[in-house]
Amino acid sequence: MGSDKHTNTHSAQERVGALRELLRHHEYLYYVMDAPEIDDLQYDALMRELQGLEGEHPEWVTPDSPTQRVGGKAADGFSKVAHSRPMLSLDNVNSEAELREWDRRARELAGPSADVSYVCEYKLDGLSMALHFGPGEEGQEEGGAVRLLRGLTRGDGSVGEDVTSNVRTIKSVPLVISAKQREKAGLPERFEVRGEVVMPLAGFLAMNEERESLGQAPAANPRNAAAGTIRTLEPNVVAQRRLDFYGYFLLDPEGAPLLPTQSAALDALTAAGFRVNPHREAIREFDKLLAFIEKAEANRTGLGYEIDGVVIKLDQTGLQRRLGYTGKAPRWAVAYKFASRFAVSVVEDIKVQVGRTGKLTPVAVLRPVGIGGITVTRATLHNEDEIERLGLLIGDSVRVERGGDVIPKVVEVVGADGTDKDHPRGTRPFVFPEHCPVCGAEVKRSEGEADHRCVNATCPARVAGSLLHFASRGVMNIEGLGEAVVMQLLERGLVHSVADIYLLDEAKLLSLERIGKKTADALLAEIAKSRTAPLYRVLYGLGIRFVGERTAELLAEEFGSMDALMAATQEELERVNEVGPRVSASIAEFFSEEPNRKLVEELRAAGLQFTAKKRERTEELAGLSFVLTGTLPTLTREQAKEKIESAGGKVAGSVSKKTSYVVAGEEAGSKLEKAQELGVKVLDEAGLLGLLT
Ligand code: IVH
Repeated sequence: MGSDKHTNTHSAQERVGALRELLRHHEYLYYVMDAPEIDDLQYDALMRELQGLEGEHPEWVTPDSPTQRVGGKAADGFSKVAHSRPMLSLDNVNSEAELREWDRRARELAGPSADVSYVCEYKLDGLSMALHFGPGEEGQEEGGAVRLLRGLTRGDGSVGEDVTSNVRTIKSVPLVISAKQREKAGLPERFEVRGEVVMPLAGFLAMNEERESLGQAPAANPRNAAAGTIRTLEPNVVAQRRLDFYGYFLLDPEGAPLLPTQSAALDALTAAGFRVNPHREAIREFDKLLAFIEKAEANRTGLGYEIDGVVIKLDQTGLQRRLGYTGKAPRWAVAYKFASRFAVSVVEDIKVQVGRTGKLTPVAVLRPVGIGGITVTRATLHNEDEIERLGLLIGDSVRVERGGDVIPKVVEVVGADGTDKDHPRGTRPFVFPEHCPVCGAEVKRSEGEADHRCVNATCPARVAGSLLHFASRGVMNIEGLGEAVVMQLLERGLVHSVADIYLLDEAKLLSLERIGKKTADALLAEIAKSRTAPLYRVLYGLGIRFVGERTAELLAEEFGSMDALMAATQEELERVNEVGPRVSASIAEFFSEEPNRKLVEELRAAGLQFTAKKRERTEELAGLSFVLTGTLPTLTREQAKEKIESAGGKVAGSVSKKTSYVVAGEEAGSKLEKAQELGVKVLDEAGLLGLLT
């Protein structure tokens, strides 16, 4: 032994293989099962031994070796990759009644002969992620093994960001799945796992403690912390923060469910070595859904990670297909969101913030208090009337509510009658400022409105707010144009409106602090790229009141250009689905103001997209209303709806005497009966298509 170099090399190589297998096994026990069999020191010793051998033989290093979770290399940015299928969100319900209605509808859509059962899962409060697995480059794995090829964030739902180098550092994500495991789990050569990345509470608290000791602002909650972490460009930083991944979907490379049921998918993921949340249950009866939710809510505080509800999914993927999707969410799943949580604290001060619409929002500065694992230090008071309604004095004890997504708010004064010794009343009344705390301009409260607004359209707080909105993700997506840069640009007078973003050049950016050539060029490239953002994003970016992303999309589709939209009357605007008098008035008012028209012209000159593909409409079905029921032989429900609407018809949810036609497919339910009862004409798919030609 020892004299023959060949044998030595051979056994060293075997040892490398054995070490990798051991390390993977112990990582699985520790990070997925929460049941370690060796301590940290023993684990570190194995890792060091492997690192030593790989150091001597760099040619043996494979990307899926446990030593390779952290590349250590900072990424330049994340590239954008289209999802196999859009990553959608879920519709919410908040009460038993709403859930009952959802259940009723799901059963109705599934049809009378369907075998309806649900899978309940916890709704983990993190960010969703798509992981792609498949064979690596040739020769990197033993036959039949697959490895993590790519990790994508949700992004805008259609296109995500490639954060593979960061995902690799999450120890509960397997980098490689052996042929044996794959066989045991019944997985093909390529598949996609979707799930949630979460930051456990302990890690979150530790991270915030560290940030505060470094003088950095703490993250607001574990979800933001997880999202921020996964998007940092330093895999080393990501590796230090403990993130977890829980799988909840198993898809084929086309993004369709791989197995006939969701329960089978969760079992297969477990068998393949993924962390799958153990709190899940297959349920048939409605009352058991309620029981599951109640238990989840009771369990909520002791889990060590945040959940904000329960997700209920139809188990059979065949039925999921039948129910299909509404615009942004599946009909076959729903999120039951938990009610918010409360705590009592003391209002130490009241500050006033100025938003992008000029609105002044009073904010209570609280003595720090934990609510469900989070330290809350501020809570919104909405407006002056709200402070009056609460009868709030500075120094009062208050009950603070933390809902799911919303910022904490003050709901009542504790011991308002002043007799509660533990909660004595405050003494200092709050006086609403008459001048903007940011620019000093006059503050106005219009007749009939609850809000005070800064009248100065060029108030730095307003401009900063509009710039940040314009540049943000989901709007114009100008990466790198965050608070730090925007504040400096405003202070130096380099920008005065969103249009000025397009007049920035390298020299201007280099004059800012902490911006080097590389960052400046990257930002300029992002700005240039935003010129190709579709019209609806530009519209959304303008920050017209009540015009969110979805409304902007519908407006762009309907009018096809900025000019047509600007020329539209309120009546024409209201022809757009979801646009009512409040929205149309706000749009008309926005475009009637001279500074806004000027801004639009400057954006046109900057070369932004001012036209979009118009939705084709004909008039064949004008004035007719349709109700769809059952499964049609070739068209999905969305396609049928689209066809009817494109021909000027309307699609309603329920049958009445005013319904022109009911279009019925296989397993049509009560709507068909109703139509027959009321004598409404019934068509099949061929009949519908016949009307259209
Ligand atoms: S299913 C279309 N299951 O909640 C499918 N989502 O509003 C939707 N989430 O974006 C996803 N736990 O980030 C699903 N067990 C779970 C979940 C879950 C958390 C998140 C996910 C999604 C959001 C839906």
